[in-house]
Amino acid sequence: MNQSKIGTISLNDFQLRDGIYFPKNYEYLNSTEQKQRWDKIGETYYGSQKIDQAEENSQIKQDYTVLTGRPGGTWNKFPVNKSVDSILEIGCGYGRIPLFLSNDKNLKCQKYYGIDISESLLRRLLKCKREYDFFTNADFYIICASAELLPIEDNSIDLVISNCVFMHIPEVQIRNLMGEISRVLKPGGKFVFNHSFHNKSCPSHKIHNFIRRLSPKQNAVYLKQYSADEIESMLTTAGMKHKCPQYTVEPTQEYAILPETIKGIRVPLAKLINRSLKPSAAMKETLAYGYSAYSSQLN
Ligand SMILES: C[S@@+](CC[C@H](N)C(=O)[O-])C[C@H]1O[C@@H](n2cnc3c(N)ncnc32)[C@H](O)[C@@H]1O
Repeated sequence: MNQSKIGTISLNDFQLRDGIYFPKNYEYLNSTEQKQRWDKIGETYYGSQKIDQAEENSQIKQDYTVLTGRPGGTWNKFPVNKSVDSILEIGCGYGRIPLFLSNDKNLKCQKYYGIDISESLLRRLLKCKREYDFFTNADFYIICASAELLPIEDNSIDLVISNCVFMHIPEVQIRNLMGEISRVLKPGGKFVFNHSFHNKSCPSHKIHNFIRRLSPKQNAVYLKQYSADEIESMLTTAGMKHKCPQYTVEPTQEYAILPETIKGIRVPLAKLINRSLKPSAAMKETLAYGYSAYSSQLN
């Protein structure tokens, strides 16, 4: 396997065990709160423990769409039958998005790099790959790390994808990560960051922020929210325009005025109220739950 080399880190700084590249100082990563949190969430994420326990011939085992939870948003716009050399996914989890892109969109690639902080989710990704065989014949580089420095060569990736991840990463780290994504993207490469940032003007997040200030230790999974201008400026500062001049920063089509849970407790009627919102064009930016950013030409 070709070990990529970059200025700061490379896959040579990792050890390959059970199909996963682990950093040589894995004890340090394991000691971080962020890693411990996501390893724990990973054990039950999307009811995955139920999938593990299900009978071989049960529907959940037969139908991979149960696993993918039907990704929406920008993924609906993703073209079919596309073929690229290399894909990098930030926060790949158990492989929900590649499973969907490979099976529903017939996306093909030669190399797939998936980076995630959670070992439990990455082990599940390898299991899903064995069971559902997405990106058939591609070389897989599955990396357990906190996404900030990428052990990937400059200008080597055709498509960078991420789904619902950046809202979980501290702002300083996100800014470094964007610089790294811009570094590894090929000139003319594409990216899709679907539902990746939470919207700072969304009332539901404002309520959550208030509650978080009362007990900061709780609910550290969701961090900062951003405006469209802040996201745009972050991407520009990272140099994305040099690699991919045309991209869109767009509010998601989920709207919310109330948090649906507070400290894990369901808020009565909140889901119903949120789902019934039909904001005018002028209100969409205010009520949207989050933002996506993606290359305008995905073909
Ligand atoms: C909401 S899940 C989304 C997972 C996957 N993209 C999906 O759509 O199913 C967030 C993912 O981000 C990962 N994550 C959180 N912080 C991270 C970090 N600092 N570096 C890499 N991955 C991280 C988690 O382990 C988890 O897999």
